[in-house]
Amino acid sequence: VRRRVGGAPIDGRTAVITGAASGIGQAMARRLAAHGCPLALADVDAAGVRATAASLGAGAPVLARAVDVGDRDAVRAFAADVVAWAPAPLGMVFNNAGVTALQRVADGAPEDDDWVMDTNFRGVSAGVRAFLPTLLAQRSGVVVNMSSVFGLVGVAHQSAYSASKFAVRGYTDALRQELRGTGVRAVVVHPGAVRTAIVRNARASAGEQAAAAAARSFERWARLTPERAARHIHAGVVRGRSRILVGADAVALDVLARVAPARASDVLAAALRAAR
Ligand SMILES: NC(=O)c1ccc[n+]([C@@H]2O[C@H](COP(=O)([O-])OP(=O)(O)OC[C@H]3O[C@@H](n4cnc5c(N)ncnc54)[C@H](O)[C@@H]3O)[C@@H](O)[C@H]2O)c1
Repeated sequence: VRRRVGGAPIDGRTAVITGAASGIGQAMARRLAAHGCPLALADVDAAGVRATAASLGAGAPVLARAVDVGDRDAVRAFAADVVAWAPAPLGMVFNNAGVTALQRVADGAPEDDDWVMDTNFRGVSAGVRAFLPTLLAQRSGVVVNMSSVFGLVGVAHQSAYSASKFAVRGYTDALRQELRGTGVRAVVVHPGAVRTAIVRNARASAGEQAAAAAARSFERWARLTPERAARHIHAGVVRGRSRILVGADAVALDVLARVAPARASDVLAAALRAAR
């Protein structure tokens, strides 16, 4: 369902991006800089976020901060800095930072579940809460929350990741309803496999063999570049989409989850096995 909602422009407005040191967040920073957006970038990787900022060239106004999105106080402090600095009204708040853990439910590390939920779900809710007052006061702007295809279909060995991405989807759908009539929009993004560092950076208590197998199938599967993913997300937001599927695999899994919800995880597991 590609519901279109009218909204304020993105280009030329201040954009906030979490997880901007790498992958999709970094590609989005470069893309929005090229579209005239002042950028407020956050990442737990301090050197990485500084490097992204430096790569944008001298012309782009940029604020780069080391922020752990799992730390609500740090996200609130970041938002206060951004609002004081922003040379243009806020256009997009991209809650993108994310991590995964490769493990079995039966013998995985519970603290890895917490790490994934703290980053992927609590990080999103902290980002939304920190910037919403400003967006509501402006009566414009778009909150873009990063889910995944694994927020449409659960996947073996990434139970916490799937749970966190289903949570982002539900949270964003609920938020969208609450924002009706405010001028502020909420968008959820479900990418398929994108060639980034996410699996390389995973915590892997499933053991080295399982982690290597997961990395292998991801490398084979992930054909889409972060730049193409960023282009697709940017275009979807500008067009007023409320739900953005990124990649042919995301479109296919979305259909599968609707027509055969009870079988969707089996089909996905078979496809991942075949990709190894
Ligand atoms: N790559 C894919 O195939 C894919 C598919 C679907 C969804 N996603 C989602 O896209 C988002 C971006 O991931 P990516 O693929 O670009 O991976 P990536 O690993 O290249 O980038 C993720 C960035 O988030 C940062 N980060 C991690 N924990 C953080 C924290 N606590 N606070 C602040 N920053 C933190 C990392 O340092 C890194 O720079 C994630 O939410 C991921 O779940 C990725």
